[in-house]
Amino acid sequence: MDGIKTIRDIDLTGKRVLLRADYNVPIDEKGHISDGYRIMESLPTVQYLLERKAKVIICSHLGRPDGKKAPSLSLAPVAKYLSKELKRPVEFIDDCIGPKVEKAAKSLRSGQILMLENLRFYPEEEENDNSFAAKLASLADVFVQDAFGVIHRAHASTDAITKLLPSVAGLLLEKEITTIESVMHDPKHPLIAIIGGAKIADKIDILNRFIDLADMVAIGGAMANTFLAASGIDVAKSLVDKDDLGLAKEILKRTRAKTAKQQFVFYIPQDGVVAKKIDTMSVTRIVDWTADVVADIENYPKSPPSSSRQIADDEMILDIGPFTGAFIAGAVQLSKTVVWNGTMGVTETNSLHGPVGPYAHGTELIMEAMLGQFGHRPFSLVGGGDTVGYIEQRKLTDSFDHVSTGGGASLELMAGRKLPGIEALMDKVK
Ligand code: 3PG
Repeated sequence: MDGIKTIRDIDLTGKRVLLRADYNVPIDEKGHISDGYRIMESLPTVQYLLERKAKVIICSHLGRPDGKKAPSLSLAPVAKYLSKELKRPVEFIDDCIGPKVEKAAKSLRSGQILMLENLRFYPEEEENDNSFAAKLASLADVFVQDAFGVIHRAHASTDAITKLLPSVAGLLLEKEITTIESVMHDPKHPLIAIIGGAKIADKIDILNRFIDLADMVAIGGAMANTFLAASGIDVAKSLVDKDDLGLAKEILKRTRAKTAKQQFVFYIPQDGVVAKKIDTMSVTRIVDWTADVVADIENYPKSPPSSSRQIADDEMILDIGPFTGAFIAGAVQLSKTVVWNGTMGVTETNSLHGPVGPYAHGTELIMEAMLGQFGHRPFSLVGGGDTVGYIEQRKLTDSFDHVSTGGGASLELMAGRKLPGIEALMDKVK
């Protein structure tokens, strides 16, 4: 956080504060918020401002309305949610600039909160337009940036506005940057990165960063299928990104070279849960393509039939298998830091019995290890939309050391990129 001031560094007493939050949360057609994690994580900043008797004006984006008003992407349900959590009124106004908004902002008193409508209803927000930023800036004396999830975008409310008002970071932004940077710059070793998700190309920068930095990189999710295919395993109907095969081969070559020189593990699954369809009712089985554990034990003293080693033509891999899960969980037991981004299987398929879906057992086992259920508990940093969605659904968000509110933003920060919204805050307040 060198060069960036926070709300603790300036006097906010009685000031009109424009707070940029990331309230891009899932809202259903009835206005129900299914995952309020981002809102809850912003509360310490809002409370801090209220304690300083600031007049708080909150702005955010929601979804991608492409510069047009879209009733389904109104922030009105967020204002209600916030009001309930803060146990005080949050006035909602159905616009974010213009005379009506200026009047409401002017009449705010100390300790009151005004929530503006979705910034992205104006195309000028994503265009980083100066006059749009000036209209927002006219509402307040100070700008507080707390929207970590959108800090990798150069938009009017992350960039242009900082040129017009004294601008500081909120407590959430500070926590996200300091935690992620301390893990990326000075991690406690052994460090394990567990990376899932679909596309290798989307995560290539953090994969490369962790191949340099970590003691072990473990791969799961659909991207593991691409690595398996690249290493010659027949993955049948499994989701494979053909465009990424070359990239996967290059990474495998590079990691083999590193493993030959120093203690480092690049681990792709050795077994998997397969089925013919992604469905709650599908019959599942375990295939051990290295045939050195489950298949051998099941068939001893005979050698295993090829079906226990081979994925059939009409099957696909939907989760890591028990051997892979146990191997990664065991490595977690030996680590001091775990960075986890991406689930290991198709965790969104519901179960017929209980809360854990048929393709979520690998993810569950690794979570149990991270949370110390086998004795040792390393520091855990979790990021990525699907991962956070899953642990939120399992009501485990508070159990990890740091669960990032940013998807793309946390990946870019981990990859060591300069992020526009962070750069914009540099040296803004003396
Ligand atoms: C997110 O959900 O990752 C952030 O709110 C950013 O949203 P965006 O990708 O639409 O800019």
